[in-house]
Amino acid sequence: MALAACMESLFNKRNNIVDMNIYKQPVYYEIAFGFIDPKEQVDNFENLIKKFSEIKVNRFLDIACGPSLQLREIARRGYEAIGLDSSPQMLKYLEKKAKEEGLKIETIRADMTDFRLKKKVDFAFIMMGSLDVGSDEKILSHLDSVAASLNKGGLYFIQNKLLDWTKAEKESWTMERNGITVKTTFEFRFKDILDQIYTEKITLEVDDNGKRRNFVQKEDLKFVFPQEFKTLIKLNGKFEFLGWWKGNCNTWHLDQPLEKVKNLDDNMVLLKRK
Ligand SMILES: C[S@@+](CC[C@H](N)C(=O)[O-])C[C@H]1O[C@@H](n2cnc3c(N)ncnc32)[C@H](O)[C@@H]1O
Repeated sequence: MALAACMESLFNKRNNIVDMNIYKQPVYYEIAFGFIDPKEQVDNFENLIKKFSEIKVNRFLDIACGPSLQLREIARRGYEAIGLDSSPQMLKYLEKKAKEEGLKIETIRADMTDFRLKKKVDFAFIMMGSLDVGSDEKILSHLDSVAASLNKGGLYFIQNKLLDWTKAEKESWTMERNGITVKTTFEFRFKDILDQIYTEKITLEVDDNGKRRNFVQKEDLKFVFPQEFKTLIKLNGKFEFLGWWKGNCNTWHLDQPLEKVKNLDDNMVLLKRK
Protein backbone atom coordinates (compact mmCIF):
# COMPACT_ATOMS: atom_id res chain seq x y z
CA MET A 1 0.00 0.00 0.00
CA ALA A 2 1.35 3.45 -0.88
CA LEU A 3 2.41 5.55 2.11
CA ALA A 4 -0.34 8.17 1.64
CA ALA A 5 -3.05 5.49 1.47
CA CYS A 6 -1.56 3.77 4.50
CA MET A 7 -1.53 7.04 6.51
CA GLU A 8 -5.13 7.76 5.50
CA SER A 9 -6.22 4.29 6.53
CA LEU A 10 -4.53 4.75 9.90
CA PHE A 11 -6.14 8.17 10.35
CA ASN A 12 -9.57 6.70 9.47
CA LYS A 13 -9.15 3.87 11.98
CA ARG A 14 -8.14 6.27 14.75
CA ASN A 15 -11.05 8.59 14.06
CA ASN A 16 -13.67 5.89 13.64
CA ILE A 17 -14.15 6.86 9.99
CA VAL A 18 -15.79 4.42 7.62
CA ASP A 19 -14.86 5.59 4.13
CA MET A 20 -17.85 4.47 2.13
CA ASN A 21 -20.88 5.30 0.11
CA ILE A 22 -23.42 7.00 2.37
CA TYR A 23 -26.16 5.70 0.06
CA LYS A 24 -25.64 2.29 1.68
CA GLN A 25 -26.92 3.81 4.96
CA PRO A 26 -30.62 4.55 4.34
CA VAL A 27 -31.56 5.01 8.01
CA TYR A 28 -28.83 7.58 8.65
CA TYR A 29 -29.41 9.20 5.24
CA GLU A 30 -33.12 9.63 5.97
CA ILE A 31 -32.39 11.26 9.33
CA ALA A 32 -29.67 13.51 7.86
CA PHE A 33 -31.86 14.75 5.01
CA GLY A 34 -35.14 14.56 6.91
CA PHE A 35 -35.49 18.36 6.97
CA ILE A 36 -37.66 18.32 3.85
CA ASP A 37 -41.44 18.60 3.99
CA PRO A 38 -42.83 15.97 1.57
CA LYS A 39 -46.41 17.27 1.96
CA GLU A 40 -45.38 20.73 0.79
CA GLN A 41 -43.30 19.27 -2.03
CA VAL A 42 -46.14 17.09 -3.30
CA ASP A 43 -48.60 20.02 -3.01
CA ASN A 44 -46.18 21.90 -5.26
CA PHE A 45 -45.99 19.01 -7.73
CA GLU A 46 -49.79 19.08 -7.92
CA ASN A 47 -49.69 22.84 -8.59
CA LEU A 48 -47.12 22.37 -11.37
CA ILE A 49 -49.27 19.61 -12.89
CA LYS A 50 -52.36 21.87 -12.84
CA LYS A 51 -50.43 24.66 -14.53
CA PHE A 52 -48.22 22.85 -17.05
CA SER A 53 -49.10 19.19 -17.59
CA GLU A 54 -50.88 18.30 -20.80
CA ILE A 55 -51.97 14.96 -19.39
CA LYS A 56 -53.83 13.71 -16.33
CA VAL A 57 -51.35 12.36 -13.79
CA ASN A 58 -51.93 8.95 -12.17
CA ARG A 59 -48.41 7.56 -12.01
CA PHE A 60 -45.24 9.18 -10.57
CA LEU A 61 -41.57 8.19 -10.94
CA ASP A 62 -38.93 9.30 -8.42
CA ILE A 63 -35.47 9.01 -10.01
CA ALA A 64 -32.57 8.44 -7.56
CA CYS A 65 -35.34 8.00 -5.02
CA GLY A 66 -33.34 7.03 -1.92
CA PRO A 67 -35.73 6.51 1.01
CA SER A 68 -38.25 8.75 -0.83
CA LEU A 69 -40.47 10.48 1.70
CA GLN A 70 -42.05 12.00 -1.43
CA LEU A 71 -43.22 8.67 -2.91
CA ARG A 72 -44.67 7.70 0.44
CA GLU A 73 -46.72 10.92 0.43
CA ILE A 74 -47.67 10.38 -3.23
CA ALA A 75 -48.84 6.80 -2.57
CA ARG A 76 -50.77 8.04 0.49
CA ARG A 77 -52.65 10.43 -1.82
CA GLY A 78 -53.78 7.49 -3.97
CA TYR A 79 -51.42 7.83 -6.94
CA GLU A 80 -49.28 5.03 -8.38
CA ALA A 81 -45.69 5.42 -7.20
CA ILE A 82 -42.46 3.99 -8.53
CA GLY A 83 -38.95 4.60 -7.20
CA LEU A 84 -35.73 4.06 -9.17
CA ASP A 85 -32.31 3.87 -7.54
CA SER A 86 -29.00 2.09 -8.03
CA SER A 87 -28.59 1.32 -4.33
CA PRO A 88 -30.18 -1.98 -3.23
CA GLN A 89 -29.98 -0.83 0.40
CA MET A 90 -32.06 2.27 -0.35
CA LEU A 91 -34.68 0.29 -2.27
CA LYS A 92 -34.97 -2.40 0.38
CA TYR A 93 -35.47 0.30 3.01
CA LEU A 94 -38.12 2.07 0.92
CA GLU A 95 -39.96 -1.24 0.40
CA LYS A 96 -39.85 -1.90 4.16
CA LYS A 97 -41.18 1.58 5.00
CA ALA A 98 -43.96 1.23 2.39
CA LYS A 99 -44.99 -2.11 3.91
CA GLU A 100 -44.98 -0.69 7.46
CA GLU A 101 -47.07 2.27 6.32
CA GLY A 102 -49.51 0.10 4.29
CA LEU A 103 -48.55 1.78 1.00
CA LYS A 104 -48.05 0.40 -2.49
CA ILE A 105 -44.72 1.55 -3.96
CA GLU A 106 -42.97 -0.23 -6.82
CA THR A 107 -39.19 -0.13 -6.98
CA ILE A 108 -36.68 -0.65 -9.75
CA ARG A 109 -32.94 -1.02 -9.35
CA ALA A 110 -31.31 0.67 -12.30
CA ASP A 111 -28.78 3.26 -13.38
CA MET A 112 -30.50 6.56 -14.11
CA THR A 113 -28.50 6.88 -17.34
CA ASP A 114 -29.80 3.63 -18.79
CA PHE A 115 -33.25 2.39 -17.87
CA ARG A 116 -36.65 1.55 -19.32
CA LEU A 117 -39.91 1.06 -17.41
CA LYS A 118 -42.46 -1.63 -18.22
CA LYS A 119 -45.25 0.92 -17.74
CA LYS A 120 -44.72 4.60 -18.52
CA VAL A 121 -45.37 7.33 -15.95
CA ASP A 122 -47.17 10.68 -16.23
CA PHE A 123 -44.78 12.74 -14.06
CA ALA A 124 -41.10 12.18 -13.25
CA PHE A 125 -38.95 13.97 -10.69
CA ILE A 126 -35.41 13.97 -9.32
CA MET A 127 -34.63 15.70 -6.02
CA MET A 128 -31.73 16.98 -3.94
CA GLY A 129 -29.41 17.69 -6.86
CA SER A 130 -29.18 14.00 -7.70
CA LEU A 131 -28.77 14.53 -11.45
CA ASP A 132 -25.07 13.95 -11.17
CA VAL A 133 -24.03 11.54 -13.86
CA GLY A 134 -20.45 12.44 -14.69
CA SER A 135 -20.48 13.45 -18.35
CA ASP A 136 -22.53 15.20 -21.02
CA GLU A 137 -22.98 11.89 -22.87
CA LYS A 138 -24.52 10.39 -19.75
CA ILE A 139 -26.88 13.35 -19.37
CA LEU A 140 -28.04 12.73 -22.93
CA SER A 141 -28.63 9.04 -22.24
CA HIS A 142 -30.39 9.97 -18.98
CA LEU A 143 -32.74 12.24 -20.96
CA ASP A 144 -33.32 9.39 -23.45
CA SER A 145 -34.19 7.03 -20.59
CA VAL A 146 -36.61 9.52 -18.99
CA ALA A 147 -38.16 10.30 -22.38
CA ALA A 148 -38.76 6.58 -23.01
CA SER A 149 -40.46 6.25 -19.61
CA LEU A 150 -42.65 9.37 -19.60
CA ASN A 151 -45.93 9.79 -21.49
CA LYS A 152 -46.04 12.62 -24.03
CA GLY A 153 -47.20 15.89 -22.49
CA GLY A 154 -45.94 14.78 -19.05
CA LEU A 155 -43.53 16.82 -16.91
CA TYR A 156 -40.00 16.14 -15.68
CA PHE A 157 -39.14 18.14 -12.55
CA ILE A 158 -35.46 18.56 -11.62
CA GLN A 159 -34.47 19.94 -8.23
CA ASN A 160 -31.10 21.10 -9.36
CA LYS A 161 -27.68 21.41 -7.77
CA LEU A 162 -26.16 24.73 -6.85
CA LEU A 163 -25.48 26.70 -10.00
CA ASP A 164 -22.83 29.07 -8.69
CA TRP A 165 -19.46 27.47 -9.35
CA THR A 166 -17.58 30.58 -8.29
CA LYS A 167 -17.81 29.87 -4.57
CA ALA A 168 -16.57 26.91 -2.55
CA GLU A 169 -19.20 25.68 -0.12
CA LYS A 170 -19.15 24.15 3.29
CA GLU A 171 -22.32 23.58 5.23
CA SER A 172 -23.16 21.57 8.38
CA TRP A 173 -26.38 20.65 10.13
CA THR A 174 -27.50 18.19 12.81
CA MET A 175 -30.69 16.12 12.91
CA GLU A 176 -31.95 13.74 15.60
CA ARG A 177 -34.52 10.91 15.65
CA ASN A 178 -35.14 7.91 17.92
CA GLY A 179 -31.91 8.45 19.87
CA ILE A 180 -29.84 8.71 16.67
CA THR A 181 -28.02 11.98 16.04
CA VAL A 182 -26.51 12.67 12.63
CA LYS A 183 -24.28 15.65 11.95
CA THR A 184 -23.91 16.16 8.19
CA THR A 185 -21.17 18.21 6.60
CA PHE A 186 -21.32 18.96 2.91
CA GLU A 187 -18.23 20.35 1.16
CA PHE A 188 -17.82 21.40 -2.45
CA ARG A 189 -14.58 22.54 -4.06
CA PHE A 190 -13.64 23.13 -7.69
CA LYS A 191 -10.75 20.91 -8.76
CA ASP A 192 -10.28 21.19 -12.51
CA ILE A 193 -11.62 24.22 -14.35
CA LEU A 194 -10.98 22.92 -17.87
CA ASP A 195 -12.79 19.63 -17.36
CA GLN A 196 -15.32 21.25 -14.96
CA ILE A 197 -14.54 18.77 -12.20
CA TYR A 198 -15.34 19.47 -8.56
CA THR A 199 -14.85 17.38 -5.45
CA GLU A 200 -17.88 16.78 -3.26
CA LYS A 201 -17.37 15.45 0.23
CA ILE A 202 -20.26 14.41 2.46
CA THR A 203 -19.55 13.39 6.05
CA LEU A 204 -22.11 11.82 8.36
CA GLU A 205 -21.05 11.83 12.01
CA VAL A 206 -23.43 9.40 13.64
CA ASP A 207 -24.19 8.83 17.30
CA ASP A 208 -26.53 5.83 17.27
CA ASN A 209 -27.74 5.52 20.86
CA GLY A 210 -24.18 5.94 22.11
CA LYS A 211 -22.40 4.06 19.30
CA ARG A 212 -20.32 6.51 17.27
CA ARG A 213 -19.42 6.06 13.60
CA ASN A 214 -18.37 8.48 10.88
CA PHE A 215 -19.15 7.91 7.20
CA VAL A 216 -17.23 9.88 4.60
CA GLN A 217 -18.06 9.94 0.91
CA LYS A 218 -15.72 11.79 -1.43
CA GLU A 219 -16.34 11.97 -5.17
CA ASP A 220 -15.04 13.90 -8.17
CA LEU A 221 -18.04 15.00 -10.20
CA LYS A 222 -18.59 17.00 -13.36
CA PHE A 223 -20.18 20.42 -13.04
CA VAL A 224 -22.69 21.02 -15.82
CA PHE A 225 -22.95 24.73 -16.54
CA PRO A 226 -26.46 26.17 -16.96
CA GLN A 227 -26.19 27.02 -20.66
CA GLU A 228 -24.52 23.65 -21.32
CA PHE A 229 -27.50 21.95 -19.68
CA LYS A 230 -29.96 23.90 -21.86
CA THR A 231 -27.96 22.97 -24.96
CA LEU A 232 -27.97 19.30 -23.97
CA ILE A 233 -31.76 19.41 -23.63
CA LYS A 234 -31.99 20.92 -27.12
CA LEU A 235 -29.57 18.34 -28.51
CA ASN A 236 -31.55 15.50 -26.98
CA GLY A 237 -34.64 16.94 -28.66
CA LYS A 238 -37.25 15.00 -26.67
CA PHE A 239 -38.20 17.68 -24.13
CA GLU A 240 -39.46 21.22 -24.16
CA PHE A 241 -37.63 23.47 -21.67
CA LEU A 242 -40.46 25.17 -19.75
CA GLY A 243 -38.22 27.23 -17.49
CA TRP A 244 -36.06 27.44 -14.38
CA TRP A 245 -36.99 29.12 -11.16
CA LYS A 246 -35.72 29.90 -7.70
CA GLY A 247 -36.88 27.70 -4.84
CA ASN A 248 -35.94 26.33 -1.47
CA CYS A 249 -35.93 22.65 -0.63
CA ASN A 250 -39.74 22.42 -0.39
CA THR A 251 -41.19 25.12 -2.57
CA TRP A 252 -40.43 26.83 -5.87
CA HIS A 253 -41.37 30.27 -7.00
CA LEU A 254 -42.84 30.51 -10.47
CA ASP A 255 -42.78 34.31 -10.17
CA GLN A 256 -38.96 34.23 -9.83
CA PRO A 257 -37.31 32.91 -13.01
CA LEU A 258 -33.56 32.55 -12.57
CA GLU A 259 -32.85 35.32 -15.05
CA LYS A 260 -34.37 37.74 -12.51
CA VAL A 261 -32.77 36.54 -9.27
CA LYS A 262 -29.29 37.08 -7.90
CA ASN A 263 -28.91 34.01 -5.69
CA LEU A 264 -28.77 30.87 -7.85
CA ASP A 265 -28.29 28.40 -5.01
CA ASP A 266 -31.68 26.71 -4.88
CA ASN A 267 -33.26 26.21 -8.23
CA MET A 268 -35.55 23.93 -10.19
CA VAL A 269 -35.89 23.10 -13.86
CA LEU A 270 -39.09 21.97 -15.53
CA LEU A 271 -39.20 20.00 -18.78
CA LYS A 272 -42.15 18.68 -20.76
CA ARG A 273 -42.02 15.49 -22.85
CA LYS A 274 -42.70 16.41 -26.48
C1 LIG B 1 -28.73 12.71 -2.84
S1 LIG B 1 -29.51 11.12 -2.77
C2 LIG B 1 -31.19 11.62 -3.07
C3 LIG B 1 -32.21 10.73 -2.42
C4 LIG B 1 -33.62 11.27 -2.42
N1 LIG B 1 -34.12 11.47 -3.76
C5 LIG B 1 -33.72 12.59 -1.65
O1 LIG B 1 -34.22 13.56 -2.23
O2 LIG B 1 -33.34 12.62 -0.49
C6 LIG B 1 -29.01 10.42 -4.30
C7 LIG B 1 -29.55 9.02 -4.59
O3 LIG B 1 -29.17 8.68 -5.92
C8 LIG B 1 -28.81 7.33 -6.00
N2 LIG B 1 -27.94 7.21 -7.18
C9 LIG B 1 -26.67 7.67 -7.33
N3 LIG B 1 -26.23 7.44 -8.57
C10 LIG B 1 -27.25 6.83 -9.25
C11 LIG B 1 -27.41 6.35 -10.57
N4 LIG B 1 -26.44 6.47 -11.48
N5 LIG B 1 -28.59 5.79 -10.91
C12 LIG B 1 -29.59 5.65 -10.01
N6 LIG B 1 -29.49 6.09 -8.73
C13 LIG B 1 -28.34 6.67 -8.34
C14 LIG B 1 -28.15 7.05 -4.66
O4 LIG B 1 -28.17 5.67 -4.35
C15 LIG B 1 -29.03 7.90 -3.71
O5 LIG B 1 -30.09 7.14 -3.18
